[in-house]
Amino acid sequence: MKKEVIEECAQIAADLQYDNLEFLVGDINDYNDESTVDMVVTLHACDVATDMALSRAVKWGASVILSVPCCQHELNNQIQSSPLDIMLQHGLIKERFSALATDSIRAEILNLVGYDAQLMEFIDMSHTPKNILIRAYFTGKKASDEQFARYKAFTRFLNATPFLENELKDRLS
Ligand SMILES: C[S@@+](CC[C@H](N)C(=O)[O-])C[C@H]1O[C@@H](n2cnc3c(N)ncnc32)[C@H](O)[C@@H]1O
Repeated sequence: MKKEVIEECAQIAADLQYDNLEFLVGDINDYNDESTVDMVVTLHACDVATDMALSRAVKWGASVILSVPCCQHELNNQIQSSPLDIMLQHGLIKERFSALATDSIRAEILNLVGYDAQLMEFIDMSHTPKNILIRAYFTGKKASDEQFARYKAFTRFLNATPFLENELKDRLS
C-alpha cells in the first residue's frame, strides 16, 4: 500500500534486469486480477491482510503457500471462554494466546480445504519474535467429518468466527 516502497522495489528489479518481476501498489482486498497462481508468499502482512492473501491463494489454487503473519488482532477482540479466564484475564497473555490460536486456525482451515499445512519457525527468534511460518502445499485431499467437527468445536470453545472462515465459507460448509 506504500507507494515509495513499491517504487524502490521496482527500481531494484530494474537495476537487476528482472524484467518479469512487477510490483503493484494497492490493497490486497481489491486485488482480484489473477485466475491461477503457482505460489503465494506473504511476509508480515498486517492482521487480516494475511487472511486476505490466504483466501486468494486458496481460490487461485496455489500449489504452495508460504505465509509469515503479523500483528494478529482479530481474535483478540472476539475470544471469550470462561475455562480460559485464568489466562485471558491478562491482556498480554490474551494477545499472545490469540495470535497462536489465529495461526493454528489458519493452518487448520488450509488443511480443511485440501492443503497439507504446517506451522514452523522460519528464522531464529533473536531476529524477530514474529517468526512463525505457515507452510502449505496443495494435495487435494478431502478433510474428514471428524476434522470439520474438531475445527468447529475449537472455534465454538473460543467463541470466535475467524475472518478466513468467512472468506472461505463456501468451501468449509
Ligand atoms: C510489517 S510490514 C511488512 C513489509 C514487508 N513484507 C517486510 O517484511 O519488510 C506490513 C506491510 O503490509 C502492508 N499491508 C497491510 N495491509 C495491507 C493490505 N490490506 N493490502 C496490501 N498491503 C497491506 C503495509 O502497507 C506494510 O507495508
